[in-house]
Amino acid sequence: MRVDAKDMGTDLKEVLITKEEIDAKLAELAAKIDAEYAGKDLLIVGVLKGAVMVMADLARALSTPVTMDWMAVSSYGAGTQSSGVVRILKDLDTDIKGKHVLIVEDIIDSGLTLSWLLSNLGSREPASLKVCTLLRKPEAAKVAIDVEWVGFDIPNEFVVGYGLDYAEKYRNLPFVGTLAPHVYGG
Ligand code: XMP
Ligand code: MG
Repeated sequence: MRVDAKDMGTDLKEVLITKEEIDAKLAELAAKIDAEYAGKDLLIVGVLKGAVMVMADLARALSTPVTMDWMAVSSYGAGTQSSGVVRILKDLDTDIKGKHVLIVEDIIDSGLTLSWLLSNLGSREPASLKVCTLLRKPEAAKVAIDVEWVGFDIPNEFVVGYGLDYAEKYRNLPFVGTLAPHVYGG
């Protein structure tokens, strides 16, 4: 069954990226990541909760054997704007010193969360530290970040689905869609 924005009631404005487009992009990114880490031990770190879908699908698209760990940070509260203040809600279970670490993100919006995460994880002396994100909003960037692998650059609109939420809803949509402004008071 094909789900589209109309099936989700009036909360969604439109489907921005289909499941098929996500699958194809992750296969493409996985091939590049496989090439980069050939013969190395790779730890992929997912940022909860938004990155669960990307982690699950990217990990399965990779040929490189990986270990997986998770971090949970908070920078948003229930709203749609990054505060820049990041708190660790759940730290990594493993010591990353000397390891090749790839942070897997759902979305880079202002970049404040990732910038904080890079300096935090960087201070733990990993052998390497790189980033793969499914989505990026270039117009929303408040800090410049070097991101190795980007799935899609998208317009500066609030998006939901494929792990991304608004007030914890819509994470299980198989596609990425834009939220109608009336839903968040826009
Ligand atoms: P920043 O602004 O720090 O944001 O780069 C990073 C985190 O904020 C969440 N985020 C979003 N979540 N739709 C969402 O559902 C969005 O459009 C959006 N923009 C940012 C997300 O958790 C991301 O990791
Ligand atoms: Mg979120």
